[in-house]
Amino acid sequence: MNTNLAIETDSLSKFYGDFQAVDSVDLTVEKGCLYGFLGPNGAGKSTTIKMLTGILKPSSGSVRLLGGDPWNQTEALQIKKQIGVVPEDLALFDNLTAREYLTFVGQMHLLDKATILQRGEELLSLLKLEGVEKKLTVEYSHGMKKKLALAAALLPNPKLLFLDEPFEGVDVVTAKVIRDLLLNYVAKGSTVFVTSHVMEIVERICTHVGIIANGNLVEQCSLDDLNARNSLENRFIELVGSNTDEKPNLDWLDGGERSGKSAAEASE
Ligand SMILES: Nc1ncnc2c1ncn2[C@@H]1O[C@H](COP(=O)(O)OP(=O)(O)O)[C@@H](O)[C@H]1O
Ligand SMILES: [Mg+2]
Repeated sequence: MNTNLAIETDSLSKFYGDFQAVDSVDLTVEKGCLYGFLGPNGAGKSTTIKMLTGILKPSSGSVRLLGGDPWNQTEALQIKKQIGVVPEDLALFDNLTAREYLTFVGQMHLLDKATILQRGEELLSLLKLEGVEKKLTVEYSHGMKKKLALAAALLPNPKLLFLDEPFEGVDVVTAKVIRDLLLNYVAKGSTVFVTSHVMEIVERICTHVGIIANGNLVEQCSLDDLNARNSLENRFIELVGSNTDEKPNLDWLDGGERSGKSAAEASE
């Protein structure tokens, strides 16, 4: 067993009925990495992250996190204590305020009251959620919910953090705060596994990259190694395949210019 690995999977697969969403994925993520799991929509990123974090049972294959098996009942709790997760659906409670939710999470992790309060205040302030902590989560915008989910994942000070599309739907200022926070967190020796369908984000912050397409892991290496061979964008397009030379051609989409009539006029 390699004790330097934060995440290791062996032939990890998932079927939804007859459809195979993830196909024999072998991930290797060293401790201290900021690992970007990149792939187009529907590639299998969220399915993989759910199998890694104990949310969705793999159809076959195995997962090891920090040397333990999150799917083994006797090891699961010990591992889950050391990880933070922001899943695709955020999994918040609608009828709690941000502070109530953070208190709940802190108590689940058996943190003392003073620590929960101090960390909670710092996170709310850093993520610019202070002042809205009296609002119920159900009243939050999508970006605010995402920030709260991130705060909750960080509160117990995990060794390993999983984030499913953390930059999707957040404003640029928040994106920068999250970016800096993750870089700082990894610099202290922790590990981040982050999914994204946006290449620029992965390129900007990640040390390592895995590319998934149609459920298959088609690339896994350090960003430096990849950049020495090719740009991430070229490699991504090469591997994922796209008809980028094909011009989008929706003949009818001309704002009514060709017929010279607006929709309203045409219906008269
Ligand atoms: N609960 C589900 N039931 C059936 N198919 C699903 C389910 N969740 C995801 N899929 C399918 O599995 C594939 C991978 O989905 P997902 O892991 O969400 O991709 P990504 O996160 O990369 O966009 C997609 O084709 C999606 O339609
Ligand atoms: Mg997804």
